[in-house]
Amino acid sequence: MRLAHVSDLHLGMREIAPGGGRPAAEVAEAVARDLAGISEAVDLVIVSGDLTERADAAAFADFERMFSEIGLPVVIVPGNHDGPAGMRAYTASSEVFADWNITNRVKEFGGMRCLGLDTCIEGAVEGELDEEGLALVAEEVARDGGEGSLLIVMHHPPLLLGLDKFDGFCRLKGHERLMDILRGSGMTIKILSGHVHRPFFASEHNIDCYVAGSMVAPYDSALPFGDHPIRPTMLQDFYYLHDFGPGGRHLVTPQRVRGLAR
Ligand SMILES: [Fe+2]
Repeated sequence: MRLAHVSDLHLGMREIAPGGGRPAAEVAEAVARDLAGISEAVDLVIVSGDLTERADAAAFADFERMFSEIGLPVVIVPGNHDGPAGMRAYTASSEVFADWNITNRVKEFGGMRCLGLDTCIEGAVEGELDEEGLALVAEEVARDGGEGSLLIVMHHPPLLLGLDKFDGFCRLKGHERLMDILRGSGMTIKILSGHVHRPFFASEHNIDCYVAGSMVAPYDSALPFGDHPIRPTMLQDFYYLHDFGPGGRHLVTPQRVRGLAR
C-alpha cells in the first residue's frame, strides 16, 4: 500500500507567507496535478488538516474540485484553520467530503486501518482530543487482540521535538491520554500530522509520528540549526510517499512537486 501525505494547503490564503511561501491556489493545483501524474502508483491521498485558511465554503469547494481530479481515494481531517465548524458544515453539504472526511471513524485501505481524529478547538491554535475520539482509539487498538497496525490522521501531532519554539503552539490537550492508550497496545502505530508547517519525524515506543510541512507557509525558525541555520525554504517543496509492505516494512520518500521547481 502506498499513500501520499500532504498537509497545510491553506486554500483561500491571499497573502504570501514569509520564509518562502507561495500562492495557496498555485500550490494546491500543482500538488493535485503532480499526484494525478503518479496516480497509477499511489493508492491513497491523505491531507492532515488546514485545507483552507478561513474555513469558507468556496475554499473547501476549490479543494474538492482539485483533489477530485486526482482520481484516487482521499482522506481528510480538519485543521485549526478549517473551523472545525466550517468543515463540518461543508461536509454536511457535500457527498464527496462526507466520504473523504474520516473524523472519528475508521476506513480500511489495502488492509490498513485508518482512523481520523478532529483535534481542533474553534478559534484556537492549540488542540484538544475529545472523549469520542479517545474512546474510538481505545476500541481500535484492542481490536483483533491488539495486533497489527493502525494509521491515525490528526492535525496536531501528539509527539513533539522537545523545542519550545516548535512545541509551544502545538499544545494538544489530552495527548498524554492518547499516548497512554497507544503505548499500552501491542500494535504498530503510525500517525500522520501537520500544523507545525515544517516537516519532522518523532518516534516513541510503538508510535511513529510523521509531520508534513507546508508549501504555502513554511515555518522558518532557525531552530534546531543554531547560529547558522539551514533555512527550510526549499526543503518544503515536497509531499511524502509512504510505502507499507510485508513484515512491517515502511519506507518514506519525499516527493518534489514538479510544478513548484524553483
Ligand atoms: Fe496550518
